[in-house]
Amino acid sequence: DKGGHRHFMAKEIAEQPTVIAESIRHYLPAGGDSVILPDTDLDFAAVDRLTMVACGTAFYACLTAKYWFEQLARLPVEVDIASEFRYREPPIPARSLALFVSQSGETADTLAALRYCAGKADRILSVVNVPESSIARESDLALQIHAGPEIGVASTKAFTCQLAVLLMLALKAAADRGTLSADQLADHAAALRGLPSVLNAALDQNDAIRSAAGRLAQSRDMLFLGRGLMYPLALEGALKLKEISYIHAEAYASGELKHGPIALIDDQMPVVVFAPRDRLFDKTVSNMQEVMARKGKVILVSDADGIAEAAEGLWAGIHMPHVHESLAPIVYAVPAQLLAYHTAVAKGTDVDQPRNLAKSVTVE
Ligand code: F6R
Repeated sequence: DKGGHRHFMAKEIAEQPTVIAESIRHYLPAGGDSVILPDTDLDFAAVDRLTMVACGTAFYACLTAKYWFEQLARLPVEVDIASEFRYREPPIPARSLALFVSQSGETADTLAALRYCAGKADRILSVVNVPESSIARESDLALQIHAGPEIGVASTKAFTCQLAVLLMLALKAAADRGTLSADQLADHAAALRGLPSVLNAALDQNDAIRSAAGRLAQSRDMLFLGRGLMYPLALEGALKLKEISYIHAEAYASGELKHGPIALIDDQMPVVVFAPRDRLFDKTVSNMQEVMARKGKVILVSDADGIAEAAEGLWAGIHMPHVHESLAPIVYAVPAQLLAYHTAVAKGTDVDQPRNLAKSVTVE
């Protein structure tokens, strides 16, 4: 049942405020600012290192979470793609946790990476959408994301719910390790509880995004740029676009632009820039101006302050609500998804069943 939507993907994008509220309720019980994990004595004060492994979109959720665990909890993090990790057979130091992120819980490479870590890491954690899946069953602690069934092949609501659970896990780590004050923890808890309404405000940009997407459908290539927490999101935006619209897209950390990819920029190249008005904004804007000087078509996704400051020369501006810095990747995922969705619809591709792809990759 598509709930009145044209595609499952559209339905699942629209469901995000509701399912994320559900996910947050499970780990951040009302009446307190503490993240509570079910049935575990896990204490991040006894952990020196976190290893996170996944594939595809779930891997980008891990890359985002690396910024959170490092910045908020001062915990060193290694992130890898499961197919590389499993054959590299890396050493797993003492006092390590291994964490596997998978919507289906059945991805063959992720499961093999988990089995490699079993008996080497202190504990095996997973973040999954399917509680009875193999990855959940073989973990010491399986955290559900509570996104509900995801039918569209391109992952959307599972990604944002993975992010929400990983952020809450990073906050639990920060509390255990004493790296954030009670005020800072309360500030994050309040921002998380406000997230569903901020996501609704992001979804309100649907028409503006559809009209920008209509002008992108003829493109052969696109670039996605971001810094900090927006860099993994740029990777996710490029993946979404490739999967369902078949437009070639690449993502770069904004600071890498001048080390090569700027050679691609001409008046045919759309460049999507994710840049909330935060402490990295000025740096990203100067990269964006380098793109404009070479006639690249810049689509800036930012808040009202950011768009007002950088309006000149934009090909399109997509207005996001103001959002707590830590939560920006969850909110900016919405325009990344909608841009891919509307571009694919404008091209007439099969959005829910893109060619050559399967929902669950159970062979390597
Ligand atoms: C992208 C997508 C894939 C999956 C990847 C991992 O939209 O859906 O990249 O994220 O195949 O799948 P899970 O999370 O089931 O392990």
